[in-house]
Amino acid sequence: MERFQKYSHGGGFEDYERLKPSDFFGNDAPFNVEIGIGNGEFIAGYAEKNPDQNYLGFEVMKRIFNRAVKRAGKLEQSNVRLIHFDATFFVTILEDECVDNFYVNFPDPWPKKRHKKRRLLKTEFIELLTSKLKPGGSLYMATDQADYAQEIMENLKPLDSLETAFDTVCVNELVDYLPTKYYRKFADENGVFFFRMVKKG
Ligand SMILES: C[S@@+](CC[C@H](N)C(=O)[O-])C[C@H]1O[C@@H](n2cnc3c(N)ncnc32)[C@H](O)[C@@H]1O
Repeated sequence: MERFQKYSHGGGFEDYERLKPSDFFGNDAPFNVEIGIGNGEFIAGYAEKNPDQNYLGFEVMKRIFNRAVKRAGKLEQSNVRLIHFDATFFVTILEDECVDNFYVNFPDPWPKKRHKKRRLLKTEFIELLTSKLKPGGSLYMATDQADYAQEIMENLKPLDSLETAFDTVCVNELVDYLPTKYYRKFADENGVFFFRMVKKG
């Protein structure tokens, strides 16, 4: 009971033992993490394309998560694990510098002014992801919302250990990037802002 109370009042993750990629997959293949997998087509597509790499995905909406599970279940290989839970918790308890790539595709835009504080890609969260990236690893982020892209650029400024992989902080096209449902829905209308931030070695 004491233990439960400890974890039920916010924070307190520091007492959890750290998780290693091999705890999920039983091997040490390159480790990729997608946050907010939606219907799972991105993670399933990448997992199929790269059978020698592992893919861990998080989704908080059960109905959508179930679709992703169905899709991933059709793959022949077993390099995907999907978790119906807030990614923040699991990412926090991952050991440091164990992730090769993070993907955050079209995070909820929260367009209303009073909701903007709910946006995921705040400096603190990006800093958390950075601490889990291997040196040389990448954080991919994509949004169709110009003002969210602007906010991400601002939020990246205090983070000296990340540098863009492009000539500019973000680009409007990324060759070979698998289109997601939200990409198809909004790319034509709003354009897309892609970030690939690399952790300095
Ligand atoms: C706008 S949708 C985009 C889905 C998909 N990435 C795509 O591009 O089609 C954002 C998704 O992120 C999920 N999400 C938001 N915050 C999350 C979190 N902290 N952990 C896991 N999933 C999250 C939402 O439930 C939603 O399905």
